[in-house]
Amino acid sequence: MLTRDAKQMFYNVAGLLMTVNGWIYRTFRAAGAVKKTPVRLHLGPGPKAYLPGWTNIDANMFTAKCDIWLDLRNPLPFPEGTVDAVYSHHVIEHLPDPGNHLRDVFRVLKPGGVYRVGGPNGDVAISKFMENDHDWFNDWPDKYDSIGGRFANFIFCRNEHLTILTQSFVTELATRAGFAKVRKHPPITGTDHFALFADCLAKEHERTPEAPHTLLLEMQKPAREPQKRPET
Ligand SMILES: C[S@@+](CC[C@H](N)C(=O)[O-])C[C@H]1O[C@@H](n2cnc3c(N)ncnc32)[C@H](O)[C@@H]1O
Repeated sequence: MLTRDAKQMFYNVAGLLMTVNGWIYRTFRAAGAVKKTPVRLHLGPGPKAYLPGWTNIDANMFTAKCDIWLDLRNPLPFPEGTVDAVYSHHVIEHLPDPGNHLRDVFRVLKPGGVYRVGGPNGDVAISKFMENDHDWFNDWPDKYDSIGGRFANFIFCRNEHLTILTQSFVTELATRAGFAKVRKHPPITGTDHFALFADCLAKEHERTPEAPHTLLLEMQKPAREPQKRPET
């Protein structure tokens, strides 16, 4: 795993190139890309979770398998209201402003479009810390014996993670961005939109389904109100 300094250096050097790449995509390719149906974006697939049929977006040009090389701290290179579904799994905790990210996802989604978003489960981690349950926490990226060390390792991941994801926090950010129907689901099995996310569920993993390590929420951009016919 890259150190935080090395990662910062990568974003300093590659950031401008990714900004230019985003501009090129937005200007020359996005209009063609949004003609296919459904339009589905997978943010941060990494090396193992590439989803065929989705537009996979990642900043890591060395290890991730992706279709568009982009920094998700920049706006998504798609026009407003053109995307049917967005999926990210263990990505938004790496972003400095998750509220801004949710507003941008809201912008690109069509009315009725859905975002399924997962990340380290702060709610369960806090309970497991209070219960002194060492076994729930894993040894990645570092191995600690103390419950505090194991908790910090999970939440901050050697300072790769910039925030703590809890249901109430993400729900507040999502609601402020304009989303409705913000609902928690169990990883692998739970969705209100199986037709959209079936292939995502197949990529998800969970060692303890009764106390999930991943907090997974789905949220929907409200459908447009039907236009009232003017009274004659
Ligand atoms: C922990 S991995 C998750 C990979 C995969 N989604 C999974 O669940 O196995 C986080 C991924 O998000 C990507 N990522 C993190 N910050 C990003 C950013 N600012 N822009 C684009 N991708 C980013 C990383 O490159 C990495 O591939």
